Amino acid sequence: MEKLACFTIFIALVASLTLVQSEEGWAKKLGVQKDSTVTNLQFYFHDTLSGSNPSAMRVAEASTTKTSLTQFGSLVMADDPLTFGPEPTSKLIGRAQGLYGSAGQSNMGLIMALSYNFLDGEYKGSSISINGLNPALQLDRELPVVGGTGVFRMARGYANLQTYSFNLLGDAVVWYNVTVYH
Ligand SMILES: *[C@@H]1O[C@H](CO)[C@@H](O)[C@H](O)[C@H]1NC(C)=O
Repeated sequence: MEKLACFTIFIALVASLTLVQSEEGWAKKLGVQKDSTVTNLQFYFHDTLSGSNPSAMRVAEASTTKTSLTQFGSLVMADDPLTFGPEPTSKLIGRAQGLYGSAGQSNMGLIMALSYNFLDGEYKGSSISINGLNPALQLDRELPVVGGTGVFRMARGYANLQTYSFNLLGDAVVWYNVTVYH
């Protein structure tokens, strides 16, 4: 008798679980993941505004941008090569594509929204997204990695930036040391 009661309860439980599952069929919990991969990426970013073949160009500005010391209000679209070493001829490992704009009125601060798309090895076709304020005149700065695709799906992390070289035309080579949890 007791056994039968137990069995009935069991069947009822299974039935109710099945019901819940079919009602919420559009959403599934795939499990809890505790461990993630940590990857360190180091490369050079080449932002070239000058010359006949620039990789970044100003696409908009405010009426007061030209008189602003920080070029406040200017907006640049970039498709910048990422290389293994600091020389422009060094091996191409990816491209940084997106926008940055001057968002600081008294201090130099570039608000960056760029997708870093990799072309090399197992990272080919994968990307990370960096979105944050870059105080470009500071020696060391940190920007957040807010996401990624492919190998870097669900990425979180941080990028430490150091200017390697720059000129008065606005061209810069920046060293990136990126730590990604994915
Ligand atoms: C790169 O970043 C990692 C993680 O923050 C750090 O441990 C490492 O020392 C950095 N490398 C260099 C050469 O600064």
